[in-house]
Amino acid sequence: MSYAALRRMASRLDAVRPQSAAMAGPTIDVATGGMLIPGSPGGRAIRVLFLPSRLHVDGGRVLTTAEMWSSLGIDAAWENPHEEGAARSAVAGGGRERLEESLRSADVVLPEAARPLFDVGEWRHVALWGGRCGSKSTSAGVATLLLARGRRLRIICARQFMANIGASVRTLLVDWIDRLGLEDEFEVMEQTITHGHTGSRISFLGLDRSPDSAKSLEGADICWIEEAASVTAAALRKLSHSIRRPGACLWYTLNPEDESDPVDAALLSTTNPPPRSVAKRVSYTENPYFFGGGLVDSLVHEMGGGDVAMARHTWLGEHLTLTEARIYPSVVAGMPPDDAIGADAVPVAGLDFSRGGTDPHALVKAVVDVERRTIFVTEELVTHAPTADLVAAVAGLVGSGRLLTDHEPERIEDLRRARIDAGGARKSAGSVMRGIFWLRGFTIYVSRACPSTLRELIGYQWQRDRRTDRILARPRDGDDHTCDALRYAVSDLIDGGGAGGAIRFRIGW
Ligand SMILES: Nc1ncnc2c1ncn2[C@@H]1O[C@H](COP(=O)(O)OP(=O)(O)O)[C@@H](O)[C@H]1O
Ligand SMILES: [Mg+2]
Repeated sequence: MSYAALRRMASRLDAVRPQSAAMAGPTIDVATGGMLIPGSPGGRAIRVLFLPSRLHVDGGRVLTTAEMWSSLGIDAAWENPHEEGAARSAVAGGGRERLEESLRSADVVLPEAARPLFDVGEWRHVALWGGRCGSKSTSAGVATLLLARGRRLRIICARQFMANIGASVRTLLVDWIDRLGLEDEFEVMEQTITHGHTGSRISFLGLDRSPDSAKSLEGADICWIEEAASVTAAALRKLSHSIRRPGACLWYTLNPEDESDPVDAALLSTTNPPPRSVAKRVSYTENPYFFGGGLVDSLVHEMGGGDVAMARHTWLGEHLTLTEARIYPSVVAGMPPDDAIGADAVPVAGLDFSRGGTDPHALVKAVVDVERRTIFVTEELVTHAPTADLVAAVAGLVGSGRLLTDHEPERIEDLRRARIDAGGARKSAGSVMRGIFWLRGFTIYVSRACPSTLRELIGYQWQRDRRTDRILARPRDGDDHTCDALRYAVSDLIDGGGAGGAIRFRIGW
């Protein structure tokens, strides 16, 4: 369907709104990412703008995550620039202006990932998972309120541990009733919140404390399980058995901790999720208002140094496996599968010079498919050869291709004299971490002809603090020659953001 046709359809649906609102269900305007959630008869409709991932609201403007960082003057080295692609295209070609127009009439802005919450009846399980401040609770809370206005629903807000009502999401709901101007519609009591027109009832439940909770769960249409990483297997079983009204659904909001946690194992870390389930990642990059909040400094501080694994857990929702000290988790020995590297893949080469002694020179050649996030290391040279032999061997390997090295002007000059197109890899504050985080986004295949590279990439580890055993944002020194060479090799792609200016070639294995 064309954009114009969608707009026409959306405006037609808009026009019939008041009379049929209670029956019609939400009206979707696909073109602008907005949705009109009707209230009960007599209640006004609320406009929700769903913002695609990595877009944020800054005053009346819509900016991408990278644009936000740069407007703050922060070099966010942990960001993978290639995740920004979809956001960049969403604001391209008048997209930004369309979103900003929708923003002006929106009552509330939610991440696009929150949309499945509004598709009642379609999903049995909806999981919103990710790091701190991802708008997970806010999305589920706003959805709870807006759906409760539409028709009579029994909604239970559950969590494993709820010492008292203050530990529930009640405060969040009360806050949003206020922010959306719905005080007249909802009756807020100590243990429940009800909607005056529809008769919807929202209640709160601590799974560990309520032996008879199965009963209270039976009539539920929606059960929202907050902090779902800590839900026990027994509680999860009880939930899925008791919540069995036709069309009833379970929502889970969580920051994943361990792959073996029951909700995680059932919905996230599985290749076989239950039918009608959907899981969306929602981190600060999805929170439309993250940059207006007070936690930006903490994020920059934590992601920029110290305990990397913990910071990535906290902010990006990665599993909290502190034993995982490997810098490159997905290194695979052997050839990539046929469809892993396309014809647009870019050939690269990098060289790390010896610093003398037992330290070798290390060269790697690879092809990089930025779109598919795959790298194939095809050749290596690890040698203690004297300069003349090194230059000859390098010339034989890289031919007329570009070679990026560490900054040793005299040695680069030696290579150039032998007609090798050599140059120093881009270096700036944070470039080591930027390179590492960029490479972490890739699956790295290593040809069996490159045993040193394979060993070093797999063995490449973060340093640990001796006293606390925390993982630090510094790679261990030692067997890292090919790791550095690979980082130099891709350094032009990182800031260039892709295959720009690179030679296209067809790889024949
Ligand atoms: N859609 C939104 N509109 C306005 N503020 C939001 C929105 N999403 C999140 N926030 C604000 O960002 C902060 C973090 O959101 P929250 O929903 O608690 O994240 P999470 O549950 O993922 O940790 C809160 O202060 C919240 O008020
Ligand atoms: Mg939360």
